[in-house]
Amino acid sequence: SLTRVFEREYTGPVYSDGVALVDAEGEQIAEDRLAPGEQLTVFPASHPGIERAPTLLVRFEEGEYGGETRAEFTVGGYAAFSKVCTHAGCMVADRDGTTLVCPCHSGRFDALSGATVVGGPPPRALPQLPITLSSDGYLVATGDFEGPVGPGGG
Ligand code: FES
Repeated sequence: SLTRVFEREYTGPVYSDGVALVDAEGEQIAEDRLAPGEQLTVFPASHPGIERAPTLLVRFEEGEYGGETRAEFTVGGYAAFSKVCTHAGCMVADRDGTTLVCPCHSGRFDALSGATVVGGPPPRALPQLPITLSSDGYLVATGDFEGPVGPGGG
């Protein structure tokens, strides 16, 4: 069950295959929400401490991903990464082509390669959130972030 996957308690929409991702207004994310090249800040609806789990949802053509990308964590060209910089915890809010950029100290992460660090002081990649599509066409998370969110955690 999802409770086992997350080992926590849930309050939001729960599908048999994941927990809903929602935007800042709480709206779920339909499969056609983003075009390739676009991005959106979302939240795993049921994640405890949701304010600490802002997530960058990006979309590219499926064939563009490579390198460290966990293909089993992506769906329909979508990938999701923690928005909390692993350096000092700023929001990774900027974008330079396919690179996610932290405005605080110019940390750079390659969105096409598992958000691995490609510049600046961050010590490790932005942890990826495994996602899939629910049976009715909404993006859902199938588990917790693959690593610790934000600074610390090795
Ligand atoms: Fe992001 Fe320093 S907090 S680069």
